[in-house]
Amino acid sequence: MRITTFAEPHSIVDDGDTIRNRFVIVVDTLRATSVIAAALAAGADAVIPVAEVEEAMNLYRNLGADIALLCGERGGNPIPGFHLGNSPAEYNTTAVRGKKLVMTTTNGTRAILSASGAAVVALGAMVNAGAVAAAAMGSGMDVTFVCAGTKGRFSLEDVLTAGAIFCAMGASGHRADDLSLLALSCYRHNADDLPGALRDCTHARFLIDSGYSGDVEYCMGMDRLNAVPYYKNGMVQL
Ligand code: MLT
Repeated sequence: MRITTFAEPHSIVDDGDTIRNRFVIVVDTLRATSVIAAALAAGADAVIPVAEVEEAMNLYRNLGADIALLCGERGGNPIPGFHLGNSPAEYNTTAVRGKKLVMTTTNGTRAILSASGAAVVALGAMVNAGAVAAAAMGSGMDVTFVCAGTKGRFSLEDVLTAGAIFCAMGASGHRADDLSLLALSCYRHNADDLPGALRDCTHARFLIDSGYSGDVEYCMGMDRLNAVPYYKNGMVQL
């Protein structure tokens, strides 16, 4: 298999071969793809990713309050008037079962939308790394990681996660590009103390300083979920 990694959505170069015909894995470990996997595992019917707050509110009104919830963050914090923020613990069965979650986050939901031209779009995080790796291997397709990054900049936790998933795919026997090889090597280098490496990342430090250390702990829990969310026809579902 060929493996390609993009550090963040603006750096995607789609020469007709790196997105369109690929099994694309969108990674926003802190916190969007971790939260979406947790929400769907807790029984949410679907997550509908959108880029803007106003777009989310319009879609919520169209869907109706009986089936939809407004979810997401700006600046890491819940959006005024929204039902749920971006902390995995909020997305429990009582809150989300059977609901359509209209979600907008600073980077993660945009990264998902940026991959919409792919043959398959799956969502990966540390929490479902093994399950996503198995799905990618099962597809037999070439794989591209689209890391969400943070406001156009590289985020180490996403690249570490791409490395963890690549490692779980077996690593050898693939033809990987340089950033994929770097991700793999970075993951292997830190595998003995992954929590330590993740806690040092800029966005993890921001979340910890903002009072969300519990979220960081949750998101670094490797393979705690067996769920593989897929984005298709505007919705993310299992
Ligand atoms: C994002 O999409 O930018 C992130 O999930 C931010 C966060 O809530 O930590």
